[in-house]
This record gives sequence, C-alpha cells and structure tokens, in this order.
Amino acid sequence: VLTRLGFETAALDARLLTGHALGLDALSLATREQDTVADADAARVADLMQRRMGGESVARIVGTREFYGLPFQLGPATLEPRPDTELLVDLALKALPQDGRLLDLGTGTGCIPIAILANRPDATGLATDLNSDALVVAGENATRNAVADRLTFALGSWFEAVRSEQFDLITSNPPYIASAVVETLAPEVKDFDPRLALDGGPDGLAPYRIIAQQSGRFLVPGGQVLVEIGHDQGVAVVEIFRLHGFADIAVHKDLNGLDRVVEAHHLKDK
Ligand SMILES: C[S@@+](CC[C@H](N)C(=O)[O-])C[C@H]1O[C@@H](n2cnc3c(N)ncnc32)[C@H](O)[C@@H]1O
Repeated sequence: VLTRLGFETAALDARLLTGHALGLDALSLATREQDTVADADAARVADLMQRRMGGESVARIVGTREFYGLPFQLGPATLEPRPDTELLVDLALKALPQDGRLLDLGTGTGCIPIAILANRPDATGLATDLNSDALVVAGENATRNAVADRLTFALGSWFEAVRSEQFDLITSNPPYIASAVVETLAPEVKDFDPRLALDGGPDGLAPYRIIAQQSGRFLVPGGQVLVEIGHDQGVAVVEIFRLHGFADIAVHKDLNGLDRVVEAHHLKDK
C-alpha cells in the first residue's frame, strides 16, 4: 500500500514500523518472516502503517532519530533533527576552544549542543528554547547521551533565558521559513514538525536579526556565532550580521552544495 501511495522508501518504512510494532530488530524480523502474526500484533502494525500513510515520518512514529551518530528522542514539541544540521556541528567542533563554553539557542531535541559536547569532553554549555516541553525532551536526550553534567537548560525567548554570561561560541538553528511558506511545505513537515520550530516571521529572517543584534553582549571578544540558514538566505543573513558589526563572515555549503551555515566573528574590541 505504501508503494502504491508513492512513498519512496516504502519497503524500508514497512520493515522499520513492523519491527517496532512487534518489538523485533532487523535481524529477528528477517529470520521470522514466515511466522504467523497474532491478531493483536497485526492490529498494532496496521495502526503504525496508518500513521505513516497520514504523512507522519517513521522517526516520529518510532519516537527516535539518529543525529551525528547519536540517538535522540523526539516529542510533539521538537523538530525532527535533519542531517543538514550536522554541518553546523562539524564547524562548531572546530570553532570551540579548549574548555570552551557554548550557548545553543532554540535547542529543540538538544541535538546540536549534545552532539558537540559528546565529542568534546572539555566543553560545557547552556541550551535554551521557548517551549518547555522541548526542553524536557532535550534534558532526557542529554542524559541518554551522557552529557547532562555539562549541559544546562533555560526556558525563554532567545537571550531572555540567558543571564549575563559570556560564551566562546553561540550556535542556533532557528525557525527560518517565511510564515506564508510554512503552509506550502510537505505534509510530513507542516503537519508534524511544530510551527514554533518552522515559522521565522514574515520574511523568515526575524530570529537572525535578534541573534545578530544581541549576540555581541554574550560573546567573549573574538567569539563566534554559527547559524543554520535556508539555502536562499545566505546573502541576507550575511548582511544582517555585517550590519551588527560582525567580521570575517562566511557562508558554508552543505554536502548538496547549498548554502547552509553562516559563520560570524565578534570583533575583539567590542
Ligand atoms: C528549527 S528548530 C531547531 C531545533 C534544533 N536546534 C534542531 O536543529 O533540530 C527551532 C527551535 O527554536 C525554538 N524557538 C522558536 N522560537 C523561539 C524563541 N523565540 N526563543 C527560543 N527558542 C525558540 C523552537 O521551539 C525550536 O525548538
């Protein structure tokens, strides 16, 4: 049925969901292919397939998704982490100095700071979000990935959640879709990723203006900002950071050759 409906990964989706419904890993599922399935189990499989047919992603249905090789629990309030965002983590790992202190704004599942701290035992961080349910999920992900002792969480809008503290690096993958465009996104995104995680205001750039305007106060001299962007936002976001006095601004491309991350440096004398 999934194939007929045009799901590109129909066979894989069906295997993953069947395995999840029956509590079987890929190998057990393959070796027990000829087994008869009890009615109650079949009903559970059908229920998950129904959700997939309604456009919900496999990761949302099974409740976890891998990011940077680590497992992340998802919830209704969290964006599903995307592979594109791994570039931001790669750049952050290079940018963070020894014993560096990181601030991640709009953390969702916590995938960005957790992936960074998991690879940098010397680093510590603070992660914020406007959604308290997202922060609960992020806290559980920090524990699951053994970084909870080095990552704290704060609830609030962008920098309102942060005390007067300074960081070596600020990261963010903010909502960056223009409000009017959100409705046109694929059902898997617009119907299941939370609106708060997608909608970046009338032109999709509102969060970058806030981040560029306020980051300076929260960065050590020479500190750096790394923000994920939409593929067509490079020029606009570079200009926003330039207007707010940042230097050495660069746009990094993802593996598909698309603009994906903007890097901006806080001037040393500011
Ligand atoms: C695009 S999602 C990114 C989530 C996660 N960092 C990731 O890369 O998967 C944007 C996140 O920003 C949060 N957010 C939206 N508006 C915010 C605000 N005013 N202050 C703080 N966080 C906000 C959303 O709740 C969401 O978790």
